[in-house]
Amino acid sequence: MFTILTGAQFGDEGKGKIIDVLSSGYDIVVRFQGGNNAGHTVVVGDDTYKLHLLPSGVLTDARLLIGPGVVIDPGVLIGEIEMLESAGIRITPEKLGIDAKASIIMPYHIEMDKLREQGRKHKIGTTARGIGFAYIDKTSRDEVRLADLSDKNIFLATMDELAPQKERAIIDLGGAPGVVRACIPDYTRYGAVLKPYITDVSYELNHALDSDRNVLAEGAQGAHLDIIHGTQKYVTSSSTTAGGACVYLGIGPTRVDQVIGVVKAYITRVGEGPLPTEQTGEIGDRLREMGGEFGTTTGRPRRCGWFDAPLARKAVYLNAYSNIALTKLDVLTGLGPIKVCTEYELDGERITYPPELSSDLERCVPVYEEMDGWDLDISIVDAFSDLPAAAQDYVCRIEEILKVDIRIVSNGPKRDQMIVR
Ligand code: IMP
Repeated sequence: MFTILTGAQFGDEGKGKIIDVLSSGYDIVVRFQGGNNAGHTVVVGDDTYKLHLLPSGVLTDARLLIGPGVVIDPGVLIGEIEMLESAGIRITPEKLGIDAKASIIMPYHIEMDKLREQGRKHKIGTTARGIGFAYIDKTSRDEVRLADLSDKNIFLATMDELAPQKERAIIDLGGAPGVVRACIPDYTRYGAVLKPYITDVSYELNHALDSDRNVLAEGAQGAHLDIIHGTQKYVTSSSTTAGGACVYLGIGPTRVDQVIGVVKAYITRVGEGPLPTEQTGEIGDRLREMGGEFGTTTGRPRRCGWFDAPLARKAVYLNAYSNIALTKLDVLTGLGPIKVCTEYELDGERITYPPELSSDLERCVPVYEEMDGWDLDISIVDAFSDLPAAAQDYVCRIEEILKVDIRIVSNGPKRDQMIVR
């Protein structure tokens, strides 16, 4: 079985926990795009680890794969492997495979990301991890792949060719070019450390599916951060939607069995860009505090707002979800009356689907319907029928809007705080 799981909003929907719980049913969990701009939290006994590159199924018996569409900061990945090893969790090449063609994020990508963002009139609010510039190099065929990094002679020859070009680019952006060559000794060492993990991810996955094994493809970020279909230009640099999994992993679309969408019961966004239902006052502060809405990667406070049905409808179109996991319902406790944005008003007209351009989305005024709230602590409830009637109604209303079954309702950060319908 081949399942794809993606975020339906702007990332940070709580995908990590859903994958963590689902992954016990899968033989392989694979990351297909993005890099260490993403982040998820793993709890091991009393310890909490924040991971950015290793797939979320790290605590299960599943094999973990990182596909060729991921951009890898090797220092960060090795740091994660070492951190888990110090907690007694060994990440051997039997456990983890990384595609030979995964692009390496070089220090000059990070430098260029920062310099370009500083120089932008309209900032994107990137995570400053070099993601966009690593993808630029993949597209322009000037990338350093893991295969290149792990062969010292090839790496040195590649750097000989690339360094002058990258130095000029950094000078053009107003930076100091020393960063380009300074990293070579460290990166040569990283290549040697990661070499044993190299594999052909597309082959492994297709072969596993031929052998009736279960594969879960884990998306990072969310639908509206997609490079093409998201709220350009305030997006990340990869395809975050379900189709992207097939392209990046080299698996044909006819092999997909189900696509799971992860939707937060309200909406958040980090960085710049339109967010029509954003609440900047007390409601926004309460969502942020109660939902712990601070970035795992950058620590930035997330912008928070009410559930946005037009954006959710678009995410359903972009991903064709088979079913949905609704997360963080508990965060809405005590916030009644709860508002749901069902449509927008734009230029005097009511619309139920977002306009294509961010410049128009920015002008949309949300039209809300109000629903009763609830005050009972729902984080201890484990059956849907035991939720207060108002919470059940809220879930059913969102299901009606999305026209897709909500199979899982997550009502707290712990693994067992999960209602399966
Ligand atoms: P980049 O991916 O670092 O280039 O950042 C581009 C935009 O995507 C910025 O608005 C980031 O805040 C946002 N972004 C990137 N990764 C994530 C994520 O994992 N969660 C939420 N937002 C993200």
